[in-house]
Amino acid sequence: MSTTESILEEPQAFLPHASVAAYAAISGMDAYRALVAEAERDYPAFWARLARETLQWKTPFSSVLDESRAPFYEWFRDGTLNASYNCLDRHVEAGNGDHVAVIFEADDGTVTQVTYRALLERVCRFANALRTRGIKKGDRVVIYMPMSIEGIVAMQACARIGATHSVVFGGFSSKSLNERIVNVGAVALVTCDEQMRGGKALPLKNIADEALAMGGCEAVKSVIVYRRTGGKVAWHEGRDLWMHELTQAEEGTCEPEWVNAEHPLFILYTSGSTGVPKGVQHSTGGFLMWAAQTMKWTFDAKRSDVFWCTADIGWITGHSYIAYGPTAIGATQVVFEGVPTWPNAGRFWQMIAKHRVTVFYTAPTAIRSLIKLAESDPKVHPDRFDLTTLRLLGTVGEPINPAAWTWFYEHVGHSHCPVIDTWWQTETGGHMIAPMPGATPLVPGSCTLPLPGIMAAVVDETGRDVPNGQGGILVIKRPWPSMLRNVWGDPDRYTKSYFPEELGGKLYLAGDGAVRDEDTGYFTITGRIDDVLNVSGHRLGTMEIESALVANPLVAEAAVVGRADDTTGEVVVAFVVLKGKRPTGDDAIAIANELRAWVGKEIGPIAKPKEIRFGENLPKTRSGKIMRRLLRSLAAGEEITQDVSTLENPAILDQLG
Ligand code: WT7
Repeated sequence: MSTTESILEEPQAFLPHASVAAYAAISGMDAYRALVAEAERDYPAFWARLARETLQWKTPFSSVLDESRAPFYEWFRDGTLNASYNCLDRHVEAGNGDHVAVIFEADDGTVTQVTYRALLERVCRFANALRTRGIKKGDRVVIYMPMSIEGIVAMQACARIGATHSVVFGGFSSKSLNERIVNVGAVALVTCDEQMRGGKALPLKNIADEALAMGGCEAVKSVIVYRRTGGKVAWHEGRDLWMHELTQAEEGTCEPEWVNAEHPLFILYTSGSTGVPKGVQHSTGGFLMWAAQTMKWTFDAKRSDVFWCTADIGWITGHSYIAYGPTAIGATQVVFEGVPTWPNAGRFWQMIAKHRVTVFYTAPTAIRSLIKLAESDPKVHPDRFDLTTLRLLGTVGEPINPAAWTWFYEHVGHSHCPVIDTWWQTETGGHMIAPMPGATPLVPGSCTLPLPGIMAAVVDETGRDVPNGQGGILVIKRPWPSMLRNVWGDPDRYTKSYFPEELGGKLYLAGDGAVRDEDTGYFTITGRIDDVLNVSGHRLGTMEIESALVANPLVAEAAVVGRADDTTGEVVVAFVVLKGKRPTGDDAIAIANELRAWVGKEIGPIAKPKEIRFGENLPKTRSGKIMRRLLRSLAAGEEITQDVSTLENPAILDQLG
């Protein structure tokens, strides 16, 4: 039985609405299957066709996939192009310069629109300013910015001159920023005086100054500051420069740097199973091709769409589906500075109505928290707003539970917008497993089937396929153009983390568990299989939080685990042993607060443990290994049913429980 036929019998499957199917780039399961078959028939030819169709090349490529240095794969290596040319100039040259590129809504509701022509001019001015400061192809520029047009301009300007950008999320601490500046070897930093979120001004320049003062940043010769609030900032003459002053002095045109397809477009840090974040390195050609192609396939996006992705430019979603994807296809997008709950929890719905948004892409955590708030206050319920312009909804970052899916489908999408659950990662560059809106019957809780060309599979610990219905390890069997190219400065970690020998060295290991439906082959993601937590769709390494905790002078030992949470997916629970005696009562509360603030300073507020429990020791095996599964059960408040016979100090469980 074919996929469509068997799924039709599932009571919970939602078939594509006729109007959606008619409009879609991939109309019907036969069209989807034809693309899957095309990729299987001649893999390089399939990707070469997409790369030629989606991008404008300065010089065409003749080599499609080079596997000679596997797992360091190269795509379209002899082709040259420029990402910013593809995202801006080509639309202006095609006569669409007056089309709105960005509708920016500030925290206080002020709206600014920029056309493609205006955005191009701003990018050129900033690119020229970077060149004037001596920044050139191959240099790394760190961008520590709030959600803003200027943030996008900074990213595109780097791309224009062939500089590799590394965006650091504005919620990261000075220490995290410092580590990233040092690791990436930045020569310049682009930041902002203060960011506005939820009516409050939060410093960025001051944090950046702290980061630069921590040492190892001597190569940073330019700190370019976007003036957002006019708040007071310290100033280092010669190093610090106002963005508006620099750009005023420059011309509004700028010849792009034509780079090789493999030239690193950006490096984005993400958490892994060690204490040190990895700099995920992406290419120009492969990345941009897939950002554009998935806009067309997964979101069915056209130039006429008003697309809104609520992610931050500090995460991969903001790279692929704000800075590059929507602009690569010449669409209009909404960019939002603020938070979904300010001035009230109706902000998203109000903005969808106001800007006539057609495609809305957000995180399950946001949906779950807005459900709660809408249920307690009818004024912020989506039913109160005119959401009739919406035609498609998307989610990303974590599994979406069927209840939240159904609420989103019914109350936001009025039971006619497909909800597209997109599974992918920082490392994959773009969507990997997701329904095609005009084809795939939807099943809440499942990201359904791989995109054409993506060879996803579920295997066991030795790399062998497991039958459908049986859980296993999610892998990708063949390289794809938008995959990461390296871990910046650590090729060994790239090979070991993503192409481990245990699986045969050829499969890309995603780090997630998955199971495929017995009848339909649909994928359901069952969660991380490594020491990585997912809190509100943000990826956090348990080891990173543990190293932050043990760096505190009070702390002797720490172990961090995740606990399931209705709203945020997971929360951080820390088990801590102090150097002094185990605190109780008010002491315990005070020290826990101090340690939470400490983690906020060391990493950033997103990593703060929700709960800290103190013990005289941690549960360990006789060989000294911390028994994490026990800690997970303790954190969840479950009864310990596991075998504790290997536990060195069973009495400790009472203290920590
Ligand atoms: C991890 C990647 C992809 C951009 C945002 C997060 C989890 C992501 C889904 C989904 C279930 C998901 C996975 C993945 N994840 N999307 N639709 N269903 N889980 O990027 O920080 O690199 O995190 O997020 O665990 O491995 P990231």
